[in-house]
Amino acid sequence: MSSNRQKSLELYERAVSVIPAGVYGHTSPAATLPIAFPYYAESAEGCTFTDVDGNRYIDFMCAYGPILLGYNHPEIEAAAREEKARGGLYNHPAKVMVELAELLTERIDFADWAVFGKNGSDMTTWALQVARQHTGRKKVLTVKGAYHGVDAWTNPSPGGVIEEDRLHIHHFSWNDLSSFEQQVNRYPGEIAAVMLTPFHHPAFAANVLPGEGFFEGIQKICNANDILIILDDIRCGFRLHEAGSHKRFPIEPDMSCYCKALGNGYPISATVGKDHLQAAAGKVFLTGSYWSDAVSMATAKRCVELVAELNIPEKLNTLGKRLITGLEEAAANAGLKVTGHEPYAMPYLTFEDDPDLRKMQRFSEICANEGVIFHPHHNWFISAAHTTEAIDDAIEIASKAFQAVASEFNS
Ligand SMILES: Cc1ncc(COP(=O)(O)O)c(C=O)c1O
Repeated sequence: MSSNRQKSLELYERAVSVIPAGVYGHTSPAATLPIAFPYYAESAEGCTFTDVDGNRYIDFMCAYGPILLGYNHPEIEAAAREEKARGGLYNHPAKVMVELAELLTERIDFADWAVFGKNGSDMTTWALQVARQHTGRKKVLTVKGAYHGVDAWTNPSPGGVIEEDRLHIHHFSWNDLSSFEQQVNRYPGEIAAVMLTPFHHPAFAANVLPGEGFFEGIQKICNANDILIILDDIRCGFRLHEAGSHKRFPIEPDMSCYCKALGNGYPISATVGKDHLQAAAGKVFLTGSYWSDAVSMATAKRCVELVAELNIPEKLNTLGKRLITGLEEAAANAGLKVTGHEPYAMPYLTFEDDPDLRKMQRFSEICANEGVIFHPHHNWFISAAHTTEAIDDAIEIASKAFQAVASEFNS
């Protein structure tokens, strides 16, 4: 296959006159690979999707995380249909909201309550407000380069943001406990919370796992200074551990935020928290036009059940390890040195001597043209619908891409 992008480009041309930037946000061609990646999708099934030009891809982005069990998963779709047949959105929440909150608080060890929204940003912003309400403090610490959503306090782009939006947000460096300690000492008694991701997954860079003692140190300092720990588990949640990623990379959050994989493609997010925050949580107004949508809650309930029933995190780890090991071998056969980055359920790859990611971009471009999506600038996602055959097919295509990269960059 060598992909044709005719219809994608035609749609894009129409889009730029009616949609700012045509395609915006993380799916913008500027953030991926112009022309090399398709711009519009038509349909998806299992671990593959088809673009508007009819090209089919083995997909290692899973809609940037939401697809955990596979596209169009029969049990998730059945849960959605069943709930929708009753209605879906009402003046009131539906029974399934209580059932989902019960399930999450049973599953996640520290959680005594749960609330729901639609997007990850809804939850990180709300959790930050709850922390301020509870502590009466203004300041929040986050890791330099970490992504927590599009709201002004954390949006990585400066567009439309004023200085005051970020006045009380302060940064420290991942795996650098002394930079965290410095911030805590700089603002004694003023810090409401620290927001952390389970591992560091910046764009345009490799994954970095928490180093030895990093989370333990943060925990100790937070406990000693009454600083709340908010785990932003939006990208990783239910991929690394069925009971939340703090079980994989140990830390004890006061609140955790979930979104992407929660509804296997249906729009839902959640924050869970400890009992002592319940009063503050009740005081921070939380609502949205679609936030009590029962269909997404029904899909989330089924998805969370299936994650444990089918031991999904273990499955993703095994599949991801097969992919990364295979890619490292294929690259070595082409005379290239690459490093595969864990966690295997959300892996990424870097080339040696590739500071501007040109090799990575060329590799991803060739793979996309041959029917495999490996993002050049963002961690990848494995789903439970990736079969070993699909992974081996992807490695075979990648082998040819490595050969081409080796010959182009050596010459
Ligand atoms: C770690 C993390 N936090 C927050 C968000 C924001 O979630 P959303 O895009 O659903 O608002 C994302 C989205 O990619 C994320 O990866």
